[in-house]
Amino acid sequence: MAETFHVAVETLTSAVRPVETGGEVAARATALRPVTRDGAAGTFFLETFGCQMNDHDSEKVAGVLISRGYQQVEKPADASVILYNTCSIREKAAQKVFSRLGEFRGSPDERKIIGVLGCVAQQEGEDIFKRAPWVSLVCGSASYRKLPEMLERLEAGDRRVTGLDNDTDETFETEVTRRDNPFRAFLTIIEGCDKACAYCVVPFTRGPERSRGSDSVLREVRELAERGYSEVQLLGQTVNSYADPTHRKMKFSELLLAVAAVPGIRRVRYTTSHPRDFSADIVAAMDAEPKLCEHVHLPVQSGSNEILRAMARTYSREEYLEKIAMIRGARREISITTDVIVGFPGETEKEFQETLSLLREVRYDALFAFKYSPRPNTPSLALHDPIPEEEKSRRLADLQAVQRQIQSARHQTMVGSTMEVLVSGKSRRENRWSGHASSNRVLNFTSSAADLLGTYANVRVTDAGPASLIGEHVL
Ligand code: 5AD
Ligand code: SF4
Repeated sequence: MAETFHVAVETLTSAVRPVETGGEVAARATALRPVTRDGAAGTFFLETFGCQMNDHDSEKVAGVLISRGYQQVEKPADASVILYNTCSIREKAAQKVFSRLGEFRGSPDERKIIGVLGCVAQQEGEDIFKRAPWVSLVCGSASYRKLPEMLERLEAGDRRVTGLDNDTDETFETEVTRRDNPFRAFLTIIEGCDKACAYCVVPFTRGPERSRGSDSVLREVRELAERGYSEVQLLGQTVNSYADPTHRKMKFSELLLAVAAVPGIRRVRYTTSHPRDFSADIVAAMDAEPKLCEHVHLPVQSGSNEILRAMARTYSREEYLEKIAMIRGARREISITTDVIVGFPGETEKEFQETLSLLREVRYDALFAFKYSPRPNTPSLALHDPIPEEEKSRRLADLQAVQRQIQSARHQTMVGSTMEVLVSGKSRRENRWSGHASSNRVLNFTSSAADLLGTYANVRVTDAGPASLIGEHVL
């Protein structure tokens, strides 16, 4: 996300393991040997755009392919199957895949299968074949389990295959999900979205809301804990709208507590919360259970009631602020982050100023800010959008300047405090590490310890900038 101030670990190398498969997966991989169009062993290249849901979907895709004997490779040139898992939340993101596909224009290699997955696939469907005739596979996120069978059809000579259902519950985790992040395990608990915000393409690309059974969620958390994960992050576009389809009918807050109670689990995160469904019992659960991380991502989108109404966000500024007050009333300090859209059709300067005043009032810990981007099928597409691009850019810059000041000031108050960090990165430079605190803040810190990766370290904050905290390991 380019337009954010979210804390980043720029100087540190990622400590992400390239491949992590369960024994069962490896065993099955040897049993099946996919044969490609030119008779060689199957290899795939997979590039992912977009949000954490997409990152995690790619972990599922990779798992499914590896379990069927495919090998993942680093470069498209080495792959028999080239896959792009795409994002269409804003136009720029959607264009990226077409520029990638353009690289194959004029020199399509008949032996390679080129596939478009995810939100652009779901949105554009078979039109992708017209724009890029060298693409032979188009598959939305609800059909990933069928990928091996689709590839088999292509390898057997079919020219084009699509998988575009979007209201099945088939994409929930499988035993073959191949997680990239060895420290934080992502877990989908609810797919799709029923909220119908006027600007948003997600209800069209990911379909209606479907919740996963609490028994299945808890089974997987137990497996993850047994495999050594101590931090899990429950995912959903509106994660707190979770509605347990089993007879247990667990509320979201009950599910959080049940996940935290799994032996071996030390941290539970969840994202993204919708303000309408953010209820007092979630804060009560966070108060009762310190393993529930002290962070809530609660997108507001705008500080103006007129714009919130036009966006169909289903809450007013005042109702949103009540939710913030509820979170601020918790016994622990809970970090709050948000998403904002500037330049929604018809947004006046006064309405924009109301968003700035909301930022000053709430004092968010991080902000993800975006210029409004008209998207296909959405209700706001029909609205007159008179705000020039330069004006949207100005509003975005003003918003970010205000947020930068707020973050700098907030971070300064943390100097001298000690935070527990799950260490997930190691710098090329000696003795430098990074990790996330329970609040999701990134700390870059020094330590003389030999190997800290995957451990919890107490770090004293010694310095702070707008984007990150600097510290030293307290031994
Ligand atoms: N234009 C700009 N930003 C958008 N978002 C969603 N749809 C659009 C759009 N059409 C933003 C919202 C959402 C975040 C994931 O992306 O802020 O919370
Ligand atoms: Fe999009 Fe609104 Fe659903 Fe979020 S809640 S995914 S912004 S429709």
